[in-house]
Amino acid sequence: MSDVISQGADEELVQLELRLLLEGIYQYYGLDFRQYAMKSLRRRVQKLVETMYLDSISSLQARVLHDPAWMERLLGALTLSVTSLFRDPAFYRALREQVVTMLQKQPLIRIWVAGCASGEEVYSLAILLEEAGLYDRCRVYATDLNPTVLEQAKAGIFPIHVMAEYSRNYLQAGGTKTLSHYYTARSQHAIFHHSLRRNLVFARHNLVTDRSFNLFELILCRNVLIYFNPDLQARVHQLLFESLDNQGFLALGLQESMALTPHEADFITLDDIHKIYQKSEL
Ligand SMILES: C[S@@+](CC[C@H](N)C(=O)[O-])C[C@H]1O[C@@H](n2cnc3c(N)ncnc32)[C@H](O)[C@@H]1O
Repeated sequence: MSDVISQGADEELVQLELRLLLEGIYQYYGLDFRQYAMKSLRRRVQKLVETMYLDSISSLQARVLHDPAWMERLLGALTLSVTSLFRDPAFYRALREQVVTMLQKQPLIRIWVAGCASGEEVYSLAILLEEAGLYDRCRVYATDLNPTVLEQAKAGIFPIHVMAEYSRNYLQAGGTKTLSHYYTARSQHAIFHHSLRRNLVFARHNLVTDRSFNLFELILCRNVLIYFNPDLQARVHQLLFESLDNQGFLALGLQESMALTPHEADFITLDDIHKIYQKSEL
């Protein structure tokens, strides 16, 4: 019985420490993780505590508040940046068929890739738009909360050993050349051609605390909202809605959806499998 009580007390303590950590980094660094999905966030914090041989979340908090390098380490742990080139190839096919064809007549196409991680999604989109003959009319704003991954995205350099898998994705996505047409292989790296970056703008933007910064014809916000709780998701849905031009397009990750959310009526579902939506006419 006393073991059960002590386990309950431990659990309460961990939750309190976690809340204090998140409140601390919000107050001190202005980074707000308080409405992220708690289960996975807690798992990632505890993993960091273990790998850094700390004895508690409170020890982590002390280090993070006194040393920005620890904040950077925590930020890396909290923001999972898993991504790949032409991730979910069928999504890119659907995007080409259902959205890109609809954008053909637009004189200027403004695109926002929110939560772009290390840029693989942005380069995939640039290639798709280039092959559709639209890229010269596009401005692609690629943003992320994590400055470290943004630097990687700007560089456009990816490990050579993943290129075989990415080439398969590219072809499955409907690519019309070979992926190697777009990069130079040097030693262990694939360096994407500078010309592909000509219409890309990379910037730091926090979906939780920053406002909209333009109106867009297309927004990709894929595999980001899955890390937020429903209240925060609803707030970000509102931000995305406000950032879309009339009848603009929105693409979410395959595990994400506008269905059954407070903003469902603001969007028409174009593709329920690939999570492609269009802003309802006002
Ligand atoms: C799993 S990656 C998804 C990358 C890419 N969109 C894709 O689907 O392959 C999630 C990205 O969201 C970013 N992220 C997390 N919270 C964010 C926030 N509040 N504002 C902006 N980006 C955020 C992370 O830094 C990470 O790079």
